[in-house]
Amino acid sequence: MADLLPSELERIAREIDSRFDALLTPPDDSRKRLYEAMRHAAIGGGKRLRPLLVCAAARLFAVDPECALRAGLAVEAIHVYSLIHDDLPSMDDDDMRRGRPTVHKAYDEATAILAGDAFQALAFEILAAEATHADPFVRAELVGALAAAAGPGGMVGGQAMDMAAAVTMQDLANVTRLQQLKTGALIAFSVEAGAILGRVPPEGRTKLRGYAHDLGLAFQIADDLLDAEGDPAAMGKAAGKDDSAGKATFVGLLGIDRARAQARLLSEQAAAHLANFGREADLLREIAAYAVDRDR
Ligand code: IPE
Ligand code: IPE
Ligand code: MG
Ligand code: MG
Ligand code: MG
Repeated sequence: MADLLPSELERIAREIDSRFDALLTPPDDSRKRLYEAMRHAAIGGGKRLRPLLVCAAARLFAVDPECALRAGLAVEAIHVYSLIHDDLPSMDDDDMRRGRPTVHKAYDEATAILAGDAFQALAFEILAAEATHADPFVRAELVGALAAAAGPGGMVGGQAMDMAAAVTMQDLANVTRLQQLKTGALIAFSVEAGAILGRVPPEGRTKLRGYAHDLGLAFQIADDLLDAEGDPAAMGKAAGKDDSAGKATFVGLLGIDRARAQARLLSEQAAAHLANFGREADLLREIAAYAVDRDR
């Protein structure tokens, strides 16, 4: 398999940075601090995996790359909001993110809450704009799918389970469900967005949904493995926090070796769902391998 991933990651990172830069020009009034906090959170750093997934999936269906990038920017905006709030003292209480102080450390808690809120709104503003797709039905489907993936039935629901997990019974089924919502839902949306933009009807999306499901789980297990044994300098965030916080993770449940084996299996299974696609799915295949074989 050709090595498409490094140059694609770099290209997407550049595109996402310049788009956030253009959207977030600080105004000359007292909102300046909010805009600066948003720039601090969103520009530079971050793997941009979710926008890359949108673009890689869109490639299967000959979608206009500009439309895919805009949908990718929207899901990255939701992701950035989720990280800002995840790091707050009332949640994971973290000081470092993407190699720099978290937003509430660099600014203050109120600004961090507002910056997260603003990114959430911005995501839907981007999707709803005509430039994202000429067909309003496609735009409405994107908006509905991202709302469902981000809300109580998706990412926020998973975060609620994550916060509750320290005091409730943890078993494999519960942890799987938690991870699917907390991390899997936005990853699944990212892949689905490619199909929505390509006007693929839901019955044509089964294989891609299988891919996204396994990838999402593999990706979060890798995140938990990095917390257990990764290098904070490479990761740009603290390590060793899940255990002390009593987080419900696969690593906590299975131990490092079995969790790593599970992540690899899921990554291979993700790629296996793509067996009927040709070379146009190579980038998605490379992403599945990268999800579990990364140092940040
Ligand atoms: C971190 O996500 C939080 C999870 C959902 C696991 P990423 O590992 O994608 O973080 P960035 O975007 O690269 O900083
Ligand atoms: C965060 O999971 C998931 C979301 C932000 C939705 P983690 O709490 O494990 O992410 P990190 O390790 O802080 O990046
Ligand atoms: Mg968390
Ligand atoms: Mg966290
Ligand atoms: Mg983590």
